[in-house]
Amino acid sequence: MKTPQSLQRQLVYGLTLGLVMFWLLAALVSALVVRQRLDQTFDNAMLEAAQRILPLAVLDILDREETILPQRVAPLTTQQKGFSYVVRDSRGNILLQSFSADPAVFGPLALSGFASTATHRLYGTSALRETLFLQIAEPLAYRQTAARDASVALLLPLLFLIPASLFGIWLFVRFSLRSLRGYGLAIEARGVGNLSPIHGGRLPAEIRPIADAVNYLLERLRRALESERRFAANSAHELRTPLAATLAQVQRLRHDAPAGPLQARAVQIEASLKELSRLAEKLMQLAKAEGGGVLAEVPQDLAMLLAHVVADLQRTTDVPIEASLPAPGSVFSLIDADAFAILARNLIENACKHGAQDHAVEVTLSASARLRVVNAGSIVAAAELAQLRGHFVRAGSRAEGFGLGLAIVSTIANGVGAELQLASPASGRADGFEAVVQFVPAAPR
Ligand SMILES: Nc1ncnc2c1ncn2[C@@H]1O[C@H](COP(=O)(O)OP(=O)(O)OP(=O)(O)O)[C@@H](O)[C@H]1O
Ligand SMILES: [Mg+2]
Repeated sequence: MKTPQSLQRQLVYGLTLGLVMFWLLAALVSALVVRQRLDQTFDNAMLEAAQRILPLAVLDILDREETILPQRVAPLTTQQKGFSYVVRDSRGNILLQSFSADPAVFGPLALSGFASTATHRLYGTSALRETLFLQIAEPLAYRQTAARDASVALLLPLLFLIPASLFGIWLFVRFSLRSLRGYGLAIEARGVGNLSPIHGGRLPAEIRPIADAVNYLLERLRRALESERRFAANSAHELRTPLAATLAQVQRLRHDAPAGPLQARAVQIEASLKELSRLAEKLMQLAKAEGGGVLAEVPQDLAMLLAHVVADLQRTTDVPIEASLPAPGSVFSLIDADAFAILARNLIENACKHGAQDHAVEVTLSASARLRVVNAGSIVAAAELAQLRGHFVRAGSRAEGFGLGLAIVSTIANGVGAELQLASPASGRADGFEAVVQFVPAAPR
């Protein structure tokens, strides 16, 4: 099965990814706009410079006696990186140039306005009726560096934005989902037997219908289990009463009948009726075990219940029952009290009925809620042992029975998350039979 995806993780990664994508898009658009604006600003600066240099250059050249000699204008600082310029006459002779000017980078004399070469941005203009030509060149690298710096400045915040948004969204989503987590914990904490409605606190509007549906389902389940439990109990009662009444009538008939075939028939009917009422009892126990009402909402005191069952059974059997039980109030489990009594009664009854009659039956309950019933007697073969949990399955015992007892025990044990283990011979013995049920211990309430 695929592990469920964490909503928190999905939101954190999804939102951060979305944020980063939008940031990158915004940074790209901004970089393009900045680039365009930078180009305009640099071009304007070149234009302004040309407008200032040209009149000064004209004056300077006209004042000279020897016009052919080029003159370099010293830069203001030796590190000047910006643009350079040349002033040429109509034959291309350089009359004036800036200190760093490299004649190779300038374009043809006729250049008027802006142009770009592979390395430079050029601006050309002329004066004195096209006898003096001024050209200004600025390295393109200069603009590229400026544009790159602007782009880096736009991208740099991403380094902080990604971890900050991961953490911020994680924190915010965790905060927003806290009511959901609380709801999950409330469901988890109530255990298997508690079917009362779950109060979700301040759940988000999207989750509220789910919580309502869960509560509605729990309520329906609780009502169905309740009616099933009531039906099983009522049917047992309804069957028991007429059977007991009929048995009483037959016993009176047997008593009143003269010795002979009529009395013998009355004895037979009495025996059949007794068996019928035992079968009815077992079927009712099975109905209860399968009805799902075996879990208790409140932990039950197993030691006390077991002591009652042992005392009750000891009254009806000659086989001694040796019980070694912890003090009442020390071992608890979430099992319905009736269901536990039915389970224990069936196991001890089996041990008394099918085991060696002259040996005591041992009943032990450990502090870890482990019930163990051991009896002496002949060994049950492993193949048969494996089948005994089935309905109406018996293993060649001469004692009367229907083969339902262990089916009832195993169904109840399954219903409370416990496990029934059978062994023959009993552990630590050469013969006999052992039944062990490990219940889930619970803290008393
Ligand atoms: N303690 C035991 N010692 C020896 N054999 C046992 C013991 N418990 C059960 N068995 C064997 O397992 C069979 C099934 O037991 P189970 O309790 O299901 O039915 P049953 O006791 O025969 O009838 P029922 O319990 O329905 O009155 C028994 O018939 C018997 O052969
Ligand atoms: Mg039995």
